[in-house]
Amino acid sequence: MINMIWAMDENQLIGIGDKIPWHIKEDLVYYRNKTRGQTVLMGEATYFSLKGYYKTKPLPYGKIYVASINKDLVLDDAIVINDLIPFIQSFNEDIWVVGGSTIYKLCLPYADRLYISYIKGTHEGDKYFPTIDFSKYNLIWEEESELVRYTLFERK
Ligand SMILES: NC(=O)c1ccc[n+]([C@@H]2O[C@H](COP(=O)([O-])OP(=O)(O)OC[C@H]3O[C@@H](n4cnc5c(N)ncnc54)[C@H](OP(=O)(O)O)[C@@H]3O)[C@@H](O)[C@H]2O)c1
Repeated sequence: MINMIWAMDENQLIGIGDKIPWHIKEDLVYYRNKTRGQTVLMGEATYFSLKGYYKTKPLPYGKIYVASINKDLVLDDAIVINDLIPFIQSFNEDIWVVGGSTIYKLCLPYADRLYISYIKGTHEGDKYFPTIDFSKYNLIWEEESELVRYTLFERK
């Protein structure tokens, strides 16, 4: 099962530089509860952004895959994937795709479940989520707070 999880505002904005454009603690807690200890896949930019945030602390995941086209990249806590499409096409276990913009775009055609946190309002930034064809998905769960609408879509 390929799970994809992200937060975006009303313009599908997801990032500014290598950062998230907002600081909404309840959404961070939601994301952490979903991904803690899980096998995750992320792009190189997101990996180094998270490393900067966690500093010397280990990243809170199980197995970590990092997509990069840099064949010389070696990471001590992650497996580097140089060829993302064949990797995701043949992956048969549970995995959580956790960003960023490039990796979401490349993996979206293969995603079985979309965990979307809709951040209310609009923000400043420069990284966006690609267009989603919602005719391919059913909304199977949603819950709303003052700041965020949490949703889960499943491929038909
Ligand atoms: N709101 C959210 O939920 C959320 C979650 C995560 C991240 N973000 C945001 O997303 C932004 C980062 O996104 P990004 O697009 O800059 O970076 P990214 O998706 O984290 O990383 C992109 C990486 O993918 C590699 N790549 C490209 N095509 C590939 C392929 N076919 N096979 C293997 N690797 C491939 C590139 O390698 P090379 O560098 O070697 O070209 C690049 O390093 C940040 O602003 C971050 O805050 C938001």
